[in-house]
Amino acid sequence: MRIVLITGSTSGFGKLMVEAFLKNGDTVVATGRNLTRRQEIFEQERAHYKEKLLEVTMDVANKEEVAVAKNLIEGHFGKVDILINAAGYGLFGALEDLQEEEIRYQMEVNFFGTINVTRAFLPMLRKSHGKVFNFSSVFGFMGFPLTSLYCASKYAVEGLSESLRGELAPHGVQVCIIEPGGYRTNFGSNLLWSQENSDSIYRRQFNNYKELHTKISQRKPQQPIEVAEGVLKLSLKSQLPMRKVFGQDGKLSHFLKRCLPSGLYFRLMDKVFSKVFLRGPA
Ligand SMILES: NC(=O)c1ccc[n+]([C@@H]2O[C@H](COP(=O)([O-])OP(=O)(O)OC[C@H]3O[C@@H](n4cnc5c(N)ncnc54)[C@H](OP(=O)(O)O)[C@@H]3O)[C@@H](O)[C@H]2O)c1
Repeated sequence: MRIVLITGSTSGFGKLMVEAFLKNGDTVVATGRNLTRRQEIFEQERAHYKEKLLEVTMDVANKEEVAVAKNLIEGHFGKVDILINAAGYGLFGALEDLQEEEIRYQMEVNFFGTINVTRAFLPMLRKSHGKVFNFSSVFGFMGFPLTSLYCASKYAVEGLSESLRGELAPHGVQVCIIEPGGYRTNFGSNLLWSQENSDSIYRRQFNNYKELHTKISQRKPQQPIEVAEGVLKLSLKSQLPMRKVFGQDGKLSHFLKRCLPSGLYFRLMDKVFSKVFLRGPA
């Protein structure tokens, strides 16, 4: 019986992975913020899978909550086979227009949240020779204007994960990075933008970026279930790849950034960025 612990289970990829792993016959620990006050989220899964589902409140940025969750799960199962760090959100806007608290909190959740949970559960993962999946993004290998903090948090997750792969392999724990392109989860509606400021020197770039987002959100969406099922499929492999890119846009970004010569890539992106971000009157 595999025990699968998922952070950010209340929505998007996390919620879909809860369903996918339960369907596969795994026991799932679905974690999220304030779950006791959000009983409706897993109503259907609770009805279908009963004792295969354990719901545990865990804000990944709150170390006390992580410790309480760890003790509870250890008491319940004594082990974790798979940890999926999916909790996260985006903070977009020019660096100069962001508040320091916003900047720090982005790192608290996306980066330190991954660290808090991984550190707490590693002893149990070592015991079971388990697997860790860390959600990064195409923004974990590709810098993008007005996305510097989100990119920084995901680049940090990439560095952490790549290093942990070699550190944990001798102890039987495998690490894999998940790099999705753009998928229609609640990521867009949970996205935090810097405060609109008509005096900002980044106003034109900001407005063009928002417009780009609206255009992208009107396109035919990529289905997040393919990521959830993709992670389930990976989890069944005996050897995990270092990373897995998802989505057509993800694969294109992967090719541009990782296969083109670096000088060519940046010359190309300089042109793309000035076309997209500097449109219209200054
Ligand atoms: N969707 C995309 O296009 C995309 C692309 C690349 C990477 N990603 C990454 O994929 C992961 C999942 O995002 P998603 O697309 O599924 O977005 P989503 O639908 O907004 O889900 C995000 C999840 O993270 C949770 N979360 C946020 N802060 C948390 C915290 N402090 N503690 C615990 N949980 C927290 C949210 O919980 P609440 O319900 O409490 O808010 C929610 O369950 C994120 O790491 C994101 O960066 C998404």
